[in-house]
Amino acid sequence: MALRDPHSYCDDTQPRVASFAWKARVDFASRTLDASVTLKLAQPAAAAGPIDLDTRELTVREAEDESGRALRFELSSPDPILGARLRIELPAGCARIVVRYRTQPTASALQWLEPAQTQGKRHPFLFSQCQAIHARSVVPLQDTPAARITYTAELTVPLALRAVMAAGATGRTEQGAEATEQFSMPQPIPPYLFAFAVGELASKDLSPRSRVWAEPGLLEDAAWEFAEVERLIETAERLFGPYDWERFDILTMPPSFPYGGMENPRLTFLTPTLLAKDRSLVNVLAHELAHSWTGNLVTNANAEHFWLNEGFTVFAERRILEALEGAEMTALHAALGFQSLKDALERFSAQPELTKLRTRLQGVDPDEAFSQVPYEKGYLFLKALESAAGRPAFDAFLRQYLQTFRFQALTTEQFLAFTREKLPGALEKVDASRWLDSPGLPADAPLPRSARLDAVKAVKGAPPEALAATWSPAEWQLYLEVLPRPVPAALCAQLDDAYALTRSRNSEVLVAWLTIAVEANHAPALARAEEVLKTVGRMKYLRPLYQSLTRSQQGVQGARALFEKTRSSYHPIAQRVIDSLLR
Ligand code: BES
Ligand code: ZN
Repeated sequence: MALRDPHSYCDDTQPRVASFAWKARVDFASRTLDASVTLKLAQPAAAAGPIDLDTRELTVREAEDESGRALRFELSSPDPILGARLRIELPAGCARIVVRYRTQPTASALQWLEPAQTQGKRHPFLFSQCQAIHARSVVPLQDTPAARITYTAELTVPLALRAVMAAGATGRTEQGAEATEQFSMPQPIPPYLFAFAVGELASKDLSPRSRVWAEPGLLEDAAWEFAEVERLIETAERLFGPYDWERFDILTMPPSFPYGGMENPRLTFLTPTLLAKDRSLVNVLAHELAHSWTGNLVTNANAEHFWLNEGFTVFAERRILEALEGAEMTALHAALGFQSLKDALERFSAQPELTKLRTRLQGVDPDEAFSQVPYEKGYLFLKALESAAGRPAFDAFLRQYLQTFRFQALTTEQFLAFTREKLPGALEKVDASRWLDSPGLPADAPLPRSARLDAVKAVKGAPPEALAATWSPAEWQLYLEVLPRPVPAALCAQLDDAYALTRSRNSEVLVAWLTIAVEANHAPALARAEEVLKTVGRMKYLRPLYQSLTRSQQGVQGARALFEKTRSSYHPIAQRVIDSLLR
């Protein structure tokens, strides 16, 4: 028995599932999917024996082989992190397994929204978010990124709604009060990239290979905000090689989407909090696009090597940004990243092992281990390697890395072996083991430097108007984040009077501002923060805003009282994060 992923029951001595055909009926009334999946094995089972699949909260009705013969199956009692193992006994020669099952309303990958939680307020909405180990709450699978799969899917939904998937659309048929939409995903993916959404959706073309989807009332704003997507793709292709997924569509999510973006292949999911009306937050789009190479093409073997996905992607995101907006702007973003890294290192000071890049996650929920460390420490490690090797050599290395491991998963050890061979001496030069296996940050970490950065940091008190007039949102955000805490109420009032920060349309600036102004009990900020918390479910914002409420005159009691009211509107994962924050 060989269990290589601490978060999966997948046993790589057993037959491997190469593709699946999924059919599901979406029932908004009961918040369940009534589904069946046909799992196709890479090879017919050589001998009779078990196959172990990952599931979470699935009600399995039956399992049978291709000829309709019932197969014996057993669902283990659930592990709190992994879920339940579904063991199916295969006869020799078996090549396909059909499983009929139902999901639970609490499925961890799904958020079911009431019409009131949508922009249009008329129809319900459903979306999935499978990373890292939630696909198993929707489909019984070998749910490890080390196992790639292709799939086809058929989703039956209410007639008024559309289904979209991170796959190619192949047709829609309507019958009675329902429509069935078909999809096919020809490129093999790690299961965490399985994704779909159902709602009142419309689309607009942005380029021959990219369109944006959104609720009709948001479509024009979204199309404007993301209009530069083709330039981003072309820039990324120049840096990292051809785009391998045919289409790059975008889905604008409802505001309760718990992340900024999710790199679902062919259909990136983006939070509507990016709609700043000035394109100032397109770095998130660049980030999700960059995952098309780093993460989706070359994938971490399991969550212990998550930095291979996110560290490389932040590096790639900032290369795209540098090509399009220059080194100064990129340094500002890197400085913001560095701030978030410092916060994360502090937050994890009691669990320093989670601040290593190479982690050990047996018995640890990947959602609990999640932080900016793999992103920003990973980025700095790659910057250190880049400066050790020189940019031309590192660029060539990156391309070779992407070429060598495309459509594969790899571990940190495999990354090291490859780097040792292709960039001789570089690992020693940066002392890679300190980055990978020590907590915290090496003292000689390459910190971002720039003139604009220095200018922001030099400001004492409120910025002079002439300077502030030149500031981008990133500079405002940085200024607010480095202001010495606690910020006096008088300074908050002065800043708000002069610069109307409580009305900022840039969500990053707004949240950075509210975080300090709420703590200072600045009344307009308290009211605005409450508004934000009632509509937005992006975890990056929930955490600091609830935290600041606990430090305001509202205190923990006030924060808990608000959370009581808002809790059910948040994604299940976000609910858990705030539960533990306010406990
Ligand atoms: N893949 C992540 C989101 C994610 C990570 C979801 C782990 C579930 C588990 C995505 O690419 C991401 O990193 N999004 C960032 C944006 C970014 C610019 C750093 C986010 O959501 O804030
Ligand atoms: Zn990412």
